[in-house]
Amino acid sequence: MSESCITLQLHHICVSPFLLSQEKLQEISARLKKNMIQGLGKHTHHKAPVKMLPTFVRATPDGTEKGDFLALDLGGTNFRVLYVRVMEEEQKVLKMDSQICAIPQDIMRGTGEQLFDHIAACLADFLDSQNLKGQTLPLGFTFSFPCEQIEIDKSILIHWTKGFSCSEVEGKDVVKLLRDAIHRRADYDIGSVAMVNDTVGTMMSCGYKDQSCEIGMIIGTGTNACYMEEMKNVKRVEGEDGRMCINTEWGGFGDDGSLEDIQTQFDVVVDKTSINPGIHIFEKMISGMYLGEIVRLLLVKLTEDKLLFKGKTSEALLTPGRFETRFISEIEEQDRGLKNCQNILTELGLKWDSVDVRLVRLVCDTVSIRSAHLCAAALATIVNRIRENRGLDYLKTTVGVDGTVYRKHPNFSDKLQAMVHRLAPNCSITFLVSEDGSGKGAAMVTAVAHLVLLTLNCKLTQDQSM
Ligand code: BGC
Repeated sequence: MSESCITLQLHHICVSPFLLSQEKLQEISARLKKNMIQGLGKHTHHKAPVKMLPTFVRATPDGTEKGDFLALDLGGTNFRVLYVRVMEEEQKVLKMDSQICAIPQDIMRGTGEQLFDHIAACLADFLDSQNLKGQTLPLGFTFSFPCEQIEIDKSILIHWTKGFSCSEVEGKDVVKLLRDAIHRRADYDIGSVAMVNDTVGTMMSCGYKDQSCEIGMIIGTGTNACYMEEMKNVKRVEGEDGRMCINTEWGGFGDDGSLEDIQTQFDVVVDKTSINPGIHIFEKMISGMYLGEIVRLLLVKLTEDKLLFKGKTSEALLTPGRFETRFISEIEEQDRGLKNCQNILTELGLKWDSVDVRLVRLVCDTVSIRSAHLCAAALATIVNRIRENRGLDYLKTTVGVDGTVYRKHPNFSDKLQAMVHRLAPNCSITFLVSEDGSGKGAAMVTAVAHLVLLTLNCKLTQDQSM
């Protein structure tokens, strides 16, 4: 088959189903807007796929936060414990020690008790190493899963995402599970606890640098965003004045079937074979946990159709999870991309020629551009909403961003920014990558969260269930 004939067929199978026109992205943005309003509504919330969770954060940091804190960061395959000392002047972090503990797969999928015992044990080791066991420090808990925050220290897990599926945690208060695990050990204790989602942490840590940061976005293992919404629109929380940060949980967009028209056969397989089918459909088209697998499935199909590797597959290519998302970034690197691609294909036991290498790169491009454009549509929905909320002709705002896909992919951020610009022409957006997102960022979050804890003044209205 000639190269042009292969490219044509490849286009049909793999490129066109992933191409989303600007009009389509506008339509998707309009759908998300509807879902967001549904999520905010008192009587529509319980059925909403986009949860729009109130966070109780009423303001971005003002720079007066200080103190000694512990911070926990759970959201991916690793778990981090930090000890931080924040000084008032310029929010200088005086001392910051941290420890990373891996969370083995059997714990990610075991019982909740095992998970929290593991967390409590890691914290104990860390406190020992820092000689801190005798102190009772306030603790900021960055827990990056959808939670219904009843109060700042009472947060009910709605459902697991991103490869976690521990039993007996969904529907329960995560702070209580942590405290129970610490009490079971009885060798140390913690002070007040403030829970935050990673999007909120990112927004707040970037807020120190830029006071106009009022959106936090993560494009990493999972994806999500939060933003400052007018209180009068947050129907589930009492009070009309001011603003509150809403954790959108946009990863759940499409969980009611509303994205079926753009889901490809590969997205359907990724969802069906995941540990949580039907949950977080949007996230599964975008985030780092899934992009590599989408590419792998495409490569398998193209090989079956004899468009790649002369129709010869390999055991590695046929193994779910073997094509890692980081390969996409490596393959798309400007200068070394093709060489990286050759090495990766060889590692995967495939016999390639130069046409294969170029086509694999095209597949990676296609999948990552779709991801960037879908994120752009979602972010445009938020900035357009903030602008309309405030009755402005033009909005200038800042988005705090974090996550490996955004940070590490060579042109993801450019693609995303260019498309947001087209979808939200009346908004000027500064993108601020959070500095050491889980280090300095987590420290700031803890400080701010502690302050939030002290100043909390509202609760969810009574009749709200998840
Ligand atoms: C979770 C969010 C989180 C996002 C990014 C999603 O799977 O539901 O709470 O913010 O991942 O970590």
